[in-house]
Amino acid sequence: MTLPLDGASFRYTMGHFATGVTVMTTTAGERMHGMTVSAFASISLEPLLVMVSVERSTVMHELVAQSGAFAINVLGERSESTARFFADNVRLAAPEFREGGYRLGITGSPILSEASGYLEATVHGTQDAGDHTIIVGKVVALEIVTEEEPLIYYRSGYRSLD
Ligand SMILES: Cc1cc2nc3c(=O)[nH]c(=O)nc-3n(C[C@H](O)[C@H](O)[C@H](O)COP(=O)(O)O)c2cc1C
Repeated sequence: MTLPLDGASFRYTMGHFATGVTVMTTTAGERMHGMTVSAFASISLEPLLVMVSVERSTVMHELVAQSGAFAINVLGERSESTARFFADNVRLAAPEFREGGYRLGITGSPILSEASGYLEATVHGTQDAGDHTIIVGKVVALEIVTEEEPLIYYRSGYRSLD
């Protein structure tokens, strides 16, 4: 079925591409912030580079430009509520991170205790891309914490591998 070239068809088509789910975090000055991100990919092994695509209108877009660094927290299958939390603007009314639920990594970015693993990166470069900016990060720290199975995002819903 050929679809019309519009946003709804684009979302529908991209929804068939399953992704993992992460929470991108940063600290700009005193402010810690997190946002659910699925547009995350590895780019280069030498040097170690990753990319995230961040919508221009987000709070994250402004804060990561200030901080120049971020963490990508990889979510496991038990973290659907965390993925939902960091995608909902309601969270901005109160501190986003609860005591005991995170620590600060070497870039100062929050590392979620429940993340199955994480990478920290400094901003290596950016590329304007329509209503998003592609942020390329140079990886400066890596850790796998648990072998929990991943949280999957597919056709607008959260899934696990089973
Ligand atoms: C599963 C999922 C994946 C998402 N991936 C991205 C993404 O890759 N880039 C992005 O800019 N927004 C993404 N979003 C939307 C943001 O998480 C959401 O707009 C968030 O509230 C923006 O946060 P902020 O404006 O407070 O920084 C995603 C949302 C969900 C539910």
